Amino acid sequence: MAAKNTNMFSLIFSFIILGLAHLNLVNTLSPSYYDQTCPNAESTITSVVKKAMLNDPTVPAALLRMHFHDCFIRGCDGSVLLNSTGKNKAEKDGPPNISLHTFYVIDNAKKAVEALCPKTVSCTDILALAARDAVSGGPTWDVPKGRKDGRVSKATETRQLPAPTFNISQLQQSFAQRGLSIDDLVALSGGHTLGFAHCSSFQNRIHNFSSKQSVDPTLESSFAASLKSVCPATNTAKNAGANLDATPTTFDNRYYKLLLQGKSIFSSDQSLVTSAKTKALVSKFASSQQEFQKAFVKSMIKMSSISGGQEVRLDCRVVN
Ligand code: HEM
Ligand SMILES: *[C@@H]1O[C@H](CO)[C@@H](O)[C@H](O)[C@H]1NC(C)=O
Ligand SMILES: *[C@@H]1O[C@H](CO)[C@@H](O)[C@H](O)[C@H]1NC(C)=O
Ligand SMILES: *[C@@H]1O[C@H](CO)[C@@H](O)[C@H](O)[C@H]1NC(C)=O
Ligand SMILES: *[C@@H]1O[C@H](CO)[C@@H](O)[C@H](O)[C@H]1NC(C)=O
Repeated sequence: MAAKNTNMFSLIFSFIILGLAHLNLVNTLSPSYYDQTCPNAESTITSVVKKAMLNDPTVPAALLRMHFHDCFIRGCDGSVLLNSTGKNKAEKDGPPNISLHTFYVIDNAKKAVEALCPKTVSCTDILALAARDAVSGGPTWDVPKGRKDGRVSKATETRQLPAPTFNISQLQQSFAQRGLSIDDLVALSGGHTLGFAHCSSFQNRIHNFSSKQSVDPTLESSFAASLKSVCPATNTAKNAGANLDATPTTFDNRYYKLLLQGKSIFSSDQSLVTSAKTKALVSKFASSQQEFQKAFVKSMIKMSSISGGQEVRLDCRVVN
């Protein structure tokens, strides 16, 4: 009888613990989230991403930007991955979608992971891991996992992304709305060590900048001239533009060094040297690759923990 009661007690106790553990899993991310349910998820995703990166050197930048975009709209919830449907125009078909061309990498990773452990690994976790893998050659880190996929994606909400014309107070506000600090802003802007921008993204700096000056005076003059030559006022080349730093496939601190020389691409980059606090951080990262990498990892984990969704999608392009 006593033994039976004890068993009953431990059974009830286990239910309580399991219940709490479950709640905990829903609300908190953990690096070991898939250790029991899909131990090979991470290595499988990494191998798909690495293969795509080898085939196409523009993949890392696109994946890193896609993750940023995902987290800034509705939290990290894979909303950026959803297709438009009959009545709904999705984020990916909204205006600043211009370089989000690597959805296939996430699809391939999802397919590989579904074959291992069906309906277990969320699309937004796959994207967070892919963004970490994209930073290869730079720092690496353990990605906390357990994000859920969302069910809503609206093209109009891409307006909530910070614009490349933003000044420091607008950037600060955009980041603060997502729980991110000025330090996060400066460290995460270092993502612009990778990749490319189309002329339309920095047109404001090189033509008709203000009523007094046609070119942004903070741009170094020979650099401004080179931007103008690839992006004339009446630009017709759809794919014209400039690399975000001089080493666009290497994750380094070059971006910050160039920023101090008036050789950044966006007004938003330049604005990081317009306040004493952000300028000090820019200088710190320009002079220490190690300080930059440490800060970038910390802020990436913070950005990629903004929560959003509620399900594990079967197909990253459609809600369940
Ligand atoms: C601070 C506010 C930010 C603004 C205003 C901004 C704006 C932009 C713009 C306008 C582009 C170029 C799009 C194009 O013309 O094709 C771009 C590219 C890029 N952004 Fe940002 N961004 C910001 C923050 C971030 C963050 C936080 C990350 C990641 C940590 C990031 C990573 C990238 C990457 C990697 C690219 C290159 C994409 C490619 O080559 O495919 N950006 N960004
Ligand atoms: C999503 O859209 C892409 C591009 O338009 C298309 O190739 C793909 O079949 C769509 N996927 C689903 C599941 O609707
Ligand atoms: C970007 O959006 C435009 C419409 O705003 C759409 O025509 C285009 O296919 C989209 N590009 C990508 C890569 O989804
Ligand atoms: C930034 O732009 C906003 C909107 O145009 C303006 O109200 C604000 O004063 C500007 N801030 C700085 C620091 O220039
Ligand atoms: C420059 O900007 C002014 C005022 O914003 C506008 O009236 C003018 O048409 C613009 N010029 C060009 C060449 O875009």
